[in-house]
Amino acid sequence: MVDFNDPDFVNDPYEALKTLRLQGAPVWHEEMQMFLAARHSDANDVFRNKSLGRIFKDKTPEFEWETFNWLHSDSILDSEPPKHTRLRALVAKAFNRNKIEGMRPAVERITQQLLDAIDGKVKSGENFDLIADYAEPLPVKIIADLLGFPESDEHLLRPWSQSIVKMYEVNPSQQYQIEAKKAAGEFAEYVRDLAEHRKTNPGQDLITDLAMVEENGEKLNSHELVATCVLLLNAGHEASVNAFGNGMVAALERPDQCALLRENPRGITETALEEFMRFDAPLHLFERTATVDTELGEVKIAKGQKIAALIGAANRDETVFENPDSMDLTRDPNPHIGFGAGIHFCLGAPLARLEMGVSLPALWEKYPTMQLASTPVRRPTFVLRGYESVEISI
Ligand code: HEM
Repeated sequence: MVDFNDPDFVNDPYEALKTLRLQGAPVWHEEMQMFLAARHSDANDVFRNKSLGRIFKDKTPEFEWETFNWLHSDSILDSEPPKHTRLRALVAKAFNRNKIEGMRPAVERITQQLLDAIDGKVKSGENFDLIADYAEPLPVKIIADLLGFPESDEHLLRPWSQSIVKMYEVNPSQQYQIEAKKAAGEFAEYVRDLAEHRKTNPGQDLITDLAMVEENGEKLNSHELVATCVLLLNAGHEASVNAFGNGMVAALERPDQCALLRENPRGITETALEEFMRFDAPLHLFERTATVDTELGEVKIAKGQKIAALIGAANRDETVFENPDSMDLTRDPNPHIGFGAGIHFCLGAPLARLEMGVSLPALWEKYPTMQLASTPVRRPTFVLRGYESVEISI
């Protein structure tokens, strides 16, 4: 059975995921105590089946994990209707396609600033880091701007978020647990203070809007306010950084795909982004719990049992995608499930697509000859799959 913590598996999980997928129906993983859905149709059903819920189980001891627990149980992602419907409705308007399209000038401006800074390095003969210099700052700056998180404190976001999301890996270490508790406490306190401040000093941002809703005492309590802001700040950049980084590295390793990007970056951007998402998924595993006895992909799931959707495995399903193990930046249609499905379908998908849609062609137009300068360094995690650093030379 697949070992999610084996460094060889983390380095390249796709052969093992294929073996799992070719077994057919979801299989029971004894150590994880859950079914694994690797086929496209099964993983898709895990997201859509109404008898399966996202049920956050509090971590214990409660006094140590208190803030971490409510940051999750009171967030959009970890709640179910009717609470989920209420929380999602409060922020959905801010993320609809028209609102997001209105952010295009800001995304273009920040992309340009980052390219100018990279150009400084390139002109003095230095290489640059695709992650730290480009893939990471763009989504961090945009989500901070949208929420109204002060620019001077933006550097705090990534470390807090990274410490919290490491808890989503399979069997997180003691060290990860200590860091997650600390980050949850600091992040929650910071956002709480910021929201309080915005009640008397309103800005034109989402934290102000949500703080006003809480103030009116109607649809949002104080934990939900903080949990929603923290979720948006984290979800708003973690996967975007890795979707861009994973896709770029895979393309840079393939001369035929590089040629496509070099010759006509703007022309293939739309399909290229979707293939970035499919080919080397930035998020691999999402769990659900059966709320009643149910059946999925020929297996019976008893009430209380868990099943996980394996996105990266589903996105390589040979019954859905032609040549699934080949990257094809012109692939169309591309029904990957990188943004999930059903009621928790990614709220930020239009924003992620806008960011990558602006930053990808801008980078290739500026540096058509760019290449990997050294072996990219992977993060040692499976669920959130990405690179630590990717050195590029021109
Ligand atoms: C390439 C980048 C991204 C990927 C691959 C991605 C992927 C996903 C996936 C798979 C889910 C569903 C999780 C589940 O059903 O259990 C999700 C939910 C969510 N995403 Fe994203 N996401 C990305 C970018 C963003 C951005 C930019 C935001 C901006 C705020 C965002 C906000 C959210 C939120 C709030 C949810 C929870 C929605 C709900 O529970 O109703 N995501 N995302």
